[in-house]
Amino acid sequence: MRRSVRIVPGWYQAETVASVPADKSIVQRLLIMSLFCQGETRIEGSGFGSDCISTARAVGMLGADVRMDRLGGAVQVLPPSEGLVQPEGEVCLGNSGTGMRLLSGVVAGYPLDVTLTGDESLMRRPMGRIADPLRRMGAQVDLLGAEDRPPVRIRGGGLNPIRYELPVASAQVKSCILLAALFAEGETEIIEPAPSRDHTERILLRWGVPIQCEGKSIRLKGYGRGGPRFRAETWRPPGDFSSAAYIMALTAAEPGRSIWVRQVGLNPRRTAFLDVLSGMGAAVSVDPRPGGDWEPAGSVHVEGRRLRAVQVWGEWIPRLIDELPLLMALGSLADGHTIVRDARELRVKECDRIAAMGEALRRLGVDVQEFDDGMRVVGPASFRREEVVLDSLGDHRIAMSLAVLATYAEAPVVIRNAGCSEISCPGFWELLTSCGVVVEDAE
Ligand code: S3P
Repeated sequence: MRRSVRIVPGWYQAETVASVPADKSIVQRLLIMSLFCQGETRIEGSGFGSDCISTARAVGMLGADVRMDRLGGAVQVLPPSEGLVQPEGEVCLGNSGTGMRLLSGVVAGYPLDVTLTGDESLMRRPMGRIADPLRRMGAQVDLLGAEDRPPVRIRGGGLNPIRYELPVASAQVKSCILLAALFAEGETEIIEPAPSRDHTERILLRWGVPIQCEGKSIRLKGYGRGGPRFRAETWRPPGDFSSAAYIMALTAAEPGRSIWVRQVGLNPRRTAFLDVLSGMGAAVSVDPRPGGDWEPAGSVHVEGRRLRAVQVWGEWIPRLIDELPLLMALGSLADGHTIVRDARELRVKECDRIAAMGEALRRLGVDVQEFDDGMRVVGPASFRREEVVLDSLGDHRIAMSLAVLATYAEAPVVIRNAGCSEISCPGFWELLTSCGVVVEDAE
């Protein structure tokens, strides 16, 4: 894993075709939800990031037989035939908030005593948001860290249905409750403040689970104590839209550059970044893959233009939550003031992403104003003309956003702690190189 990289500005190919590893959100859900299946689930995809690997290991600690062939790009999960098993020791989810929050929902369905833990970053993330609904459903949940931080100790079983209004738009919290609701007697209703990604709902719908999604309400009738049992199958998740967004942004702000990203997920609750890029003036076209797959997918073509600033807030935010650091980076290349509001959630991601982007952009010479819930970025910026050293703070999305911005800079940019891109996009630096970016090892 590379510790520091140096990006040399410029980009030397006129037309490129790229593809990205399988969608991390979908793969993690499939790994976790394969625990409900009879027989062996197979998930195919090119390369799994370390969040997927942490989740696979955790599923293994709960009794599943997990075989992961990283190079061949497939993972197989055979769950224990009788529920989950009591793990020996704490179950570590590494850096994965999705893994910890979703697995908490599943574990709450079983009469086990399970403690979930994670790396330094995950141990700083708020878990009160899952503890509250799970407690209301009847699970005993103890947050063993300071305030509402992990480790999360869950003693589950015998769950009740609830009606729950989510205080924040969070697909992780929604999914945690949905997975626990499968073990309740009766109907659970969840109300979202704004639509968030619906990968969990789509998997359940494909299994024929009676789940009703109407506007911001989702209702699900549980299977009771024994939980559900579905037939295992083979899944081929599309490429991760959030990883593809970095590749699209490589071209978006430079007239004359263009790129195709193939086989990428196009779930409408993930793709607001495409609308934002178009709104900024880039030429974006989508070639949807035919077929009624459970998750829409296709190819995206982006042709660079001189960008103009954009403002995003409200219901836009959950639909591009992971692309917001990248949007802040692009804002520094666009004419005008790019403004992001209603995105306080960024403060409790893998790092405080508002502070991290604010610091990095200022170091590059960009005029930014941080808000509690977002940022104003003034563009087009005059970047510093000497080498700048930036730090990802171990956050994969910060590392990749800065790498893309560095291709537009005036001088080389060194990114410290760059290896964290493996969390969601294994092979990211090689992918950049194959797109024509000069990436050097630094230090
Ligand atoms: C995810 C949901 C989002 C996102 C995260 C993955 C998921 O988090 O930021 O990277 O897989 O459900 P929230 O739902 O907490 O906003």
